[in-house]
Amino acid sequence: MKILVVGGGGREHAIITSISKSSKVSKIYCAPGNAGIADLAECVDIGVMEFDKLVAFAKEKEIDLVVVAPDDPLVAGAVDAFNEAGIRAFGPKANAAIIEGSKAFSKDLMKKYGIPTAAYENFTDPDEAIKYLETADMPIVLKADGLALGKGVLICNTLEEAKAGVKEIMLDKHFGNAGNTMVIEEFMTGREVSVLCFCDGKTIKPMTSAQDHKRAGDGDTGLNTGGMGTFSPSPFYTKEIDEYCMEHIYKPTIAAMSAEGREFKGVLFCGLMITPKGVKVLEYNARFGDPEAQVVLPRMKNDIIDVFEACIDGTLDKIDLQFEDNAAVCVVLASDGYPVSYKKGLPISGLETFKDKDGYYVFHAGTKFDGDKIVTNGGRVLGVTATGKDLFEARKNAYAATEWISFDNKYMRHDIGKAIDEQ
Ligand SMILES: Nc1ncnc2c1ncn2[C@@H]1O[C@H](COP(=O)(O)OP(=O)(O)O)[C@@H](O)[C@H]1O
Ligand SMILES: [Mg+2]
Repeated sequence: MKILVVGGGGREHAIITSISKSSKVSKIYCAPGNAGIADLAECVDIGVMEFDKLVAFAKEKEIDLVVVAPDDPLVAGAVDAFNEAGIRAFGPKANAAIIEGSKAFSKDLMKKYGIPTAAYENFTDPDEAIKYLETADMPIVLKADGLALGKGVLICNTLEEAKAGVKEIMLDKHFGNAGNTMVIEEFMTGREVSVLCFCDGKTIKPMTSAQDHKRAGDGDTGLNTGGMGTFSPSPFYTKEIDEYCMEHIYKPTIAAMSAEGREFKGVLFCGLMITPKGVKVLEYNARFGDPEAQVVLPRMKNDIIDVFEACIDGTLDKIDLQFEDNAAVCVVLASDGYPVSYKKGLPISGLETFKDKDGYYVFHAGTKFDGDKIVTNGGRVLGVTATGKDLFEARKNAYAATEWISFDNKYMRHDIGKAIDEQ
């Protein structure tokens, strides 16, 4: 089979690493890819939103299966565009990807179908939002409705902060049209856990759990980032919690989307909070998480192409989804100054140390070739993943492997997976 993967970060590198292990695959292309992905796939210089060019390329190369990985093209209808041209594509169509593309939609869906989530109201009028806030309990959470690069959520401790937040989201349009509608939501406390699920429209199968670290600094300080590291599984996601989620969250969500005429096929990412009042949905994403994929996929035993095809064909019930009985930790190596401002083009050394080392992976997030050298090309540069028999061993291995890599201004958090010490 010939495969085209759309995207070019660490998540796509992890997906392609899994695809490259499939005996069914003869050739992999990636648009646009990066310097690490180029090891396994032929990178083509087409952007993820250039649907006409992507479709033309897939036709020309007679691609058997396209995998659309990032949120923007999914929400904008990339899978629809491939399907209309008669090309098989893995991922939800636009009418289903809206579960990520609009937080107001997903909250209304959960309310309508009784799926546990924080109490909320949606607003399109900033004056109405302020009126509501004046009588609300603090802290409170404001969420821009649309895609905002993971930055559209504000947790406000006082009424003044909340009013400033309304201005930022709805009036100053800090997140563009994503802030035309805003969700105001009850503040909850508890452990967060991410559960990515394969879906074929009717059947939903959760993968192993994971947890990410969004803040830039140790001890969850500093600015929000795309993610500084992950670990899998989460020791807090017990078998009882999994059973509860299956009955009250996963199955009802897939059934709800189907009942709404928005059959969901692809990966449904459930962002959960284990609160004192039970498990609640924080948000849904319509794709693999980045860097969650970098710890979940290395632990998956199945041929990923079989699973992708079952999701498209509606035969996921026939798949016995299996994960290794081990653990994985991913530490992101960033360029110091991320997420605000940082240098690019810094030469990276030590990448070859990972070759042929079982259980160690270096996933490229922001890298490119400069001649025959690999240099940094983004804030998040690499994701170093290691597996181990348990989380402690995986973390020890991952941090040891971060030392194999050097580049100027290399920055990482030193407490990825620290929560496991509290177990
Ligand atoms: N109702 C809430 N109560 C407490 N924290 C929240 C709430 N909603 C979101 N958060 C925090 O904000 C983060 C981002 O919110 P989320 O809904 O996942 O949006 P996004 O990932 O699109 O930025 C969550 O991971 C969580 O830490
Ligand atoms: Mg989130």
